Formats: sequence, C-alpha cells, structure tokens
Amino acid sequence: MSRAIGSRYNVEHSSHTSAYLNAISDVLSSSEVQELKKFEHHHSMTRFQHCLNVSYYSYLTCRKLGFNAEQAARAGLLHDLYVSSPKCTKEHLKNHPQVALENARKSFKLTKVEADVILKHMWPLRKGRPKYPESYVVMFTDKYIALIEYCIYLSHSAKKITKKSNKS
Ligand SMILES: [Fe+2]
Ligand SMILES: [Fe+2]
Repeated sequence: MSRAIGSRYNVEHSSHTSAYLNAISDVLSSSEVQELKKFEHHHSMTRFQHCLNVSYYSYLTCRKLGFNAEQAARAGLLHDLYVSSPKCTKEHLKNHPQVALENARKSFKLTKVEADVILKHMWPLRKGRPKYPESYVVMFTDKYIALIEYCIYLSHSAKKITKKSNKS
C-alpha cells in the first residue's frame, strides 16, 4: 500500500489515483524502487516515501498546468534512486542526481524529459538549468516536500524533548 503524505488516497486501491497508478505501476513495483523503503530520508521517512510524495504532487501539478504529468510522475519516483545513506554534504547534494540517473537508466528506458527531471532536480545548487517545464515542477516540488519532511522531523524531535523534560 502506498500513499503520498497528506493524501487521502491509497495509490494502488483508489479509483482517484488509477490514472496516476497506470503511469507509474512498473516503476512503483520494481525491486529498485521498493529497495528505497530500507533507507531513511530527511530524518522523518523513507526514501521511497519521499520519492512517492514528490512523484504524486508533481503529477497533480503537471496535470493541472497541462504539462506531461506521466513523465513527471515516473521521473519523480526515480529522482533519488540511490541505495546508500551518505552524509548530507554539499558534494552529495550536487552529485546524487547523476547517480540516480545512472541507476534509473540501468532498469528503465527513460525519455529525454525524464532524464532531465532526474538530473536537474537539485538546480540551482547543481549546475545545469532544467530544460523542460516538468523538470521545474519536480525541482520545486522536491524542495517544498523536503521542507515539509524536515518540519515533521523537527516537530517529532520537539515532542520527544518536551516528553523527556516533563518526566524529569
Ligand atoms: Fe535529491
Ligand atoms: Fe528528493
């Protein structure tokens, strides 16, 4: 069962998400993407959940704006496809899109748009301006979702500290 953060709909079982599921089902069920469930991302959730969040909301935004929602959804799910837990250094932030693109290419035939979405999602921190509207949507959605995920982490941390201080 997969559900984007803040969404009421279960991706695999809701009629509301059937078009989205059609666009991503092979990517979603792949062992490469399922493997991302083993890795923490932004301290508050798994990398799989982060990629699903970015993919789902990029899909909705692109659909609303008349862009290619299916390609944005597929690339969004693959944009952080790396199976390691590196420290969040500037180097990692700059380099991981290339790693994710290489990993994605090993398992999926990517369109030019999908490849651009994955490679450019860290712009402007990483050089190379996005070429397509879908790349901009995923790039902005990734940042917005990351902010929410960090806020969830901070909120959990604050609750833990309050609990501890109430006990002592
Ligand atoms: Fe990323
Ligand atoms: Fe990301």
